[in-house]
Amino acid sequence: MSYFRENIEKMAGYEPGFQPENPNVVKLNTNENPYPASLKVLAALKNITLEQVRKYPQPMGDTFREAASKILGVKSENIICANGGDDLLNMAVRAFCDENRPLAYPTPTYSLYPELAKIQNCPAIEIPFDEEFNLPAKLASSGAALTIVCNPNAPTGTFIPKEELAQLADETKGVLLIDEAYVDFAEDNCLELAKSFDNVIILRSMSKGYSLAGMRFGFGIANEKLIKGLMKVKDSYNVDTVAIAAATAAIQDQPYFKNNVQKVKIERKFLTDELTKLGFEVPASQTNFVFAKPPKGRAIDIYNKLREQNIYVRYWAYSDIKDKLRISVGTTQQTQMLINALKGIFAEG
Ligand SMILES: Cc1ncc(COP(=O)(O)O)c(C=O)c1O
Repeated sequence: MSYFRENIEKMAGYEPGFQPENPNVVKLNTNENPYPASLKVLAALKNITLEQVRKYPQPMGDTFREAASKILGVKSENIICANGGDDLLNMAVRAFCDENRPLAYPTPTYSLYPELAKIQNCPAIEIPFDEEFNLPAKLASSGAALTIVCNPNAPTGTFIPKEELAQLADETKGVLLIDEAYVDFAEDNCLELAKSFDNVIILRSMSKGYSLAGMRFGFGIANEKLIKGLMKVKDSYNVDTVAIAAATAAIQDQPYFKNNVQKVKIERKFLTDELTKLGFEVPASQTNFVFAKPPKGRAIDIYNKLREQNIYVRYWAYSDIKDKLRISVGTTQQTQMLINALKGIFAEG
């Protein structure tokens, strides 16, 4: 007999990407931004007083909500703060799904979604993308209480046009959560769907475009009714004083953010071009990573050999993606080290 609920006992749990202790490695496995956050974030952190952390934080992170609302052109009431985008996903699955209210999503996608379904003990309806990663038509009629579409998608890096997601929002009977964790690196976004549909939630993360993965801050944008409902399931103080200050300073420094994103896009092109020269198939990415197919089906072999040289990329043994590697966009120097290591691996045969 187990102390745990049967579904928890049976599940393996989400496996986060490896976080090596050694700082002298080339870490291209968890899509962190290769460049640091704005110095204004550091200044905000230095200004935190012991008195501020003696007290509980703002329950709803109002300072951040106000700053973000001005930048995004929505009301503060349309924003919910989260302890990372993952916290918002957790809230949504808890709020909308149960044994009779399924979660649906196209696959392959973020491997946290099925784990959240298992925790909540709700059915997970997985509908595969076609070979070009177009939105599966069947998603609209899946009967799910919550449909999550990661856009741009992880791990594929592909983007579904806003018009198609508007149609899905219109046709689905449940809520559509568009996971825009990587949208800062994309050419478009679906924010306006949160303004025009009463069943759309947009997820944003401060971990990628704003270089705050270690801080844990994300947020959702939706109509007031959905936000109020989600507030009921969040932890009372789900974002802390330090994170609110850091995230607020980061989102307010838009010139720094835009420049940082531009640098990542330039490095993404460099990485794509260099991998292509080595015979990798690298579809155009709208994120800060590429999903690359190495020549001669050697993904696992290359992953292991890179690891031996302290170069970390991401590999999944799932049948639909086991021939590919997900490689985060790094600095020029990191990309060069990766490419040199790959050349060495290919020279060995
Ligand atoms: C697709 C996707 N969504 C959401 C998240 C959550 O990001 P965070 O919790 O760091 O904001 C991640 C993290 O890697 C992700 O890959």
